[in-house]
Amino acid sequence: MGFLYEKIIRPGLFMLEAERAHNLATIGLKTLSHLGPITEGFRVFNQVKGKAPIHLFGLNFPNAVGLAAGMDKNAEFPRGAAALGFGHVEVGAVTPLRQPGNPRPRMFRYPKQSALVNRMGFNNHGADAIRDRLARRYPKRKRRTPLGINLGKGKTTDLEDAIEDYLITFKKLAEQADYFSINVSSPNTPGLRHLQKREFLRPLLKELQNANEERVRRLGMPRIPLLVKMSPDVDFRLLDEFLEAILETNCAGVIATNTTTNRGQKGSGDFENGGLSGQPLRLPATQVINYIYRATEGKLPIIGVGGIDDPVSAGEKMDAGASLVQLYTGLVYRGPFVAKRIAKALSAQSHSWF
Ligand SMILES: Cc1cc2nc3c(=O)[nH]c(=O)nc-3n(C[C@H](O)[C@H](O)[C@H](O)COP(=O)(O)O)c2cc1C
Repeated sequence: MGFLYEKIIRPGLFMLEAERAHNLATIGLKTLSHLGPITEGFRVFNQVKGKAPIHLFGLNFPNAVGLAAGMDKNAEFPRGAAALGFGHVEVGAVTPLRQPGNPRPRMFRYPKQSALVNRMGFNNHGADAIRDRLARRYPKRKRRTPLGINLGKGKTTDLEDAIEDYLITFKKLAEQADYFSINVSSPNTPGLRHLQKREFLRPLLKELQNANEERVRRLGMPRIPLLVKMSPDVDFRLLDEFLEAILETNCAGVIATNTTTNRGQKGSGDFENGGLSGQPLRLPATQVINYIYRATEGKLPIIGVGGIDDPVSAGEKMDAGASLVQLYTGLVYRGPFVAKRIAKALSAQSHSWF
């Protein structure tokens, strides 16, 4: 199937401008989400289950491979993604209000490097619309694979007011989130990555955990796991500060990593401005995962992301210390059955990782 995609479907898709091809894929996945028993049949056929589900931060993941944030920004096809074999789906980034994102073109392919650059700028329908869509079409109680919601701040929100944005989206979407991914690492929203510094991150996470506790007290609902999504472009001092804030505030884990603005020494002129993903990110992301795993003595669950497109690149992340993996760019280059292929290979070797 992968061969068919790479030889026949991908060349056709790659003739289209990158975001148009993305929109076409979105239509396919939305359609797959709404086929009732056919969707369910696909899910049963493609969902690779290990001997037992992977149990992490109170959730059961049927397999280790998730869809990374940014592909389904508006929660329009999490059911379709699960039907392709993804063991969890992260939707968003979601901001309090609908926003259009940056002007197009804002997504670029680099086939020679199996890479993408994007500067989407958190284009999304806003928290209310996304909450209502999930409640209507993919409510929490009817899911078989966990759904993460990636939270970002609005483009025009000042850094000083960022906490309020995250609190608004947390409260609006809490009913529908199996976990939240606190995105302080996208390079395309001005100032966002400053939130990784301890002086911003600690109060942000504290406020979110207070809102979490309040929900537990008021509604008797379980705590929602908070994971923090980080940038690969951090030095070790900042990384230590970052981990300290995460551990102090009892976050459930980290997602490492988001896209990079680094271009290495060679070929920096080859890429557009924005966040680079895919193969050039593979090693830097693995190095960050490895550092976090060792610094926290393996006590902090890590979801590994960056340049995963086959069992070997996924295995590298697991070997570095990740408990789960996610991918986005790999789906563009390897096609719709990449998650199933990787999940199958990982579960065959599951004794060493799970
Ligand atoms: C077009 C595009 C949009 C993205 N949007 C988001 C986003 O909204 N929030 C986020 O946390 N990450 C976003 N990402 C980053 C991915 O979730 C992922 O961390 C990154 O692409 C590295 O994984 P990959 O090499 O498998 O693509 C986006 C990536 C791409 C390519």
